[in-house]
Amino acid sequence: MNDAYVHGYDSRESVRLQDQAGTLVDLLHSDTSYPAGSIVLEAGCGVGAQTVTLARNSPGARILSVDLSADSVAEARRRVDATGLTNVQFRQADIFALPFAPESFDHVFVCFVLEHLSRPVEALAILKRLLKPGGTITVIEGDHGSAYFHPDSDAAHEAIRCQVELQRAAGGNALIGRQLYPLLVGAGFGAIRVSPRMVYVDSSRPEIVDGFTRKTFTAMIEGVRDSALAAGMVTAEVFDAGIRALYRTAEADGVFCYTFFKALGEKVRHG
Ligand SMILES: C[S@@+](CC[C@H](N)C(=O)[O-])C[C@H]1O[C@@H](n2cnc3c(N)ncnc32)[C@H](O)[C@@H]1O
Repeated sequence: MNDAYVHGYDSRESVRLQDQAGTLVDLLHSDTSYPAGSIVLEAGCGVGAQTVTLARNSPGARILSVDLSADSVAEARRRVDATGLTNVQFRQADIFALPFAPESFDHVFVCFVLEHLSRPVEALAILKRLLKPGGTITVIEGDHGSAYFHPDSDAAHEAIRCQVELQRAAGGNALIGRQLYPLLVGAGFGAIRVSPRMVYVDSSRPEIVDGFTRKTFTAMIEGVRDSALAAGMVTAEVFDAGIRALYRTAEADGVFCYTFFKALGEKVRHG
């Protein structure tokens, strides 16, 4: 991989991805179900946080999940095996060098991966070649510019900015959600539909406060503390105050908002 993966591969990140997937299942997956007999490529499956839901929601489809990290693929395989699902196969592979013939898949699913790539349009174009004519791609990405909260805090925005800058320095784009439409157009997809999926969190839903505000978003920002300080992007005082302010939004009178973007595109048949 040329692009450093900003979140890293440690077990804390793996738990964060699981919490993220568990909390967001309905919001992100409720309208994704593939017909029986279809062959689906999940590109960048990570530790399988989305794979289990994909496989459950499309029991008659065959899913092939790939990731650059062999360790993540092994972990994803363990997780899927533990559920008893049998419609998923795994393979270690780089999106930019996939070992599949053109037009091998009916559908492609990509979640939280483009944000880490320096050449997202090229990746989408590669995935498009693997689709059969009439096949679809589903792409889900976040956008850290969409985070706003109460009580508001300049320090919290500074801490978030550090994450965005570090991801940019690693070749990625933490603000990519808003760009899904032009990216899919750039890769030649047609019939593109993008829908924003807003997570609104207040203390009337404690499981989302815990699963999203604390364990997903704030944990992710907290995870870049050492890198941000080492890069001289921020002082420890400001960063730590920002993290405290993000946790503060998880208290009884706090509110946290974040928007994911989900895009569907089609490899349009010609002639
Ligand atoms: C944030 S994780 C998302 C994993 C999973 N899709 C999910 O939603 O939980 C991003 C994943 O993309 C993978 N990745 C990054 N660049 C890749 C590439 N060039 N080819 C395949 N996978 C890649 C990383 O190894 C990582 O597992």
